[in-house]
Amino acid sequence: MNNDRMDEIVQDVQNIPPLPAVVLKVIQLTRGNDTSANDLNKVISLDPALTANLLKLCNSAYYGLPRVISSVTQAVMYLGFHTVRNLVLTSTMSDFFNKETSGYGYAKGGLWQHSVAVALASEKLSKKISPGLRDVAFTAGLLHDIGKVVMSRFVGNAHVDIEKLMREENIPFMQAEQEVLGFNHALLGAKVADQWSFPQELINAIGFHHYPDKAKGRPMLPIIVHLADAAALQMGFGLGSDGLCYPLSEFALKTANMGPHEMAELYQDLEEDMKNASDFLEINPG
Ligand SMILES: [Fe+2]
Ligand SMILES: [Fe+2]
Repeated sequence: MNNDRMDEIVQDVQNIPPLPAVVLKVIQLTRGNDTSANDLNKVISLDPALTANLLKLCNSAYYGLPRVISSVTQAVMYLGFHTVRNLVLTSTMSDFFNKETSGYGYAKGGLWQHSVAVALASEKLSKKISPGLRDVAFTAGLLHDIGKVVMSRFVGNAHVDIEKLMREENIPFMQAEQEVLGFNHALLGAKVADQWSFPQELINAIGFHHYPDKAKGRPMLPIIVHLADAAALQMGFGLGSDGLCYPLSEFALKTANMGPHEMAELYQDLEEDMKNASDFLEINPG
């Protein structure tokens, strides 16, 4: 691994797109046990555009609430803390992701669609196999490929070389990426997440979402994101170069107790969830 090159990228802060300030606060908020609608309200109300967007989403036909929601506290009361928190994260991160990431063969919006799909599948999967991780699973899924956003500024048209190598040598994307660039998007993403002071389990999930068996500490969150990633690619959500050859980890399937039947169920659920979320979240792949 070309660590020097990767460190150079991470250190050059100007090259890393700024993370919306509210994102880190919201991620940290949900970590404690004593969080309340009030805390969330305090963070969100500092950003009027975000508050307006959040209320618009809460009042959309998607939720069909019996009354008009006019404050964050009310939104939490009617939709629950998790839902409102996830809505805040999705509405703040969409700009960050909705850039051209052509270096990875994604059309504009493709990486965002992929990220939302992996977030939804991660949350669904965690509910089934590890409910304690439900809260962080959505966030981990949403941010798992964040290294690509950073890296796409450096890789130019590298996907052409990456895909060529994949075809010629019949190797998975991550391996070709490593050979062409000298490092991979997962580890770069983990480094950037560390720089942003993300919680350790989130850094771990970002860094090992392709190889959960190599994760340090508890592997369940990287496993969930890995399987959700596979489900999103299988269903064609955000199919960039990454999706052309995706080795599904036997270790992940075994540890999560997921057989072909359970995976098929995950695919189906995801298709349904994405159908419902697409209009609502205005996900427009290019
Ligand atoms: Fe990835
Ligand atoms: Fe991915």
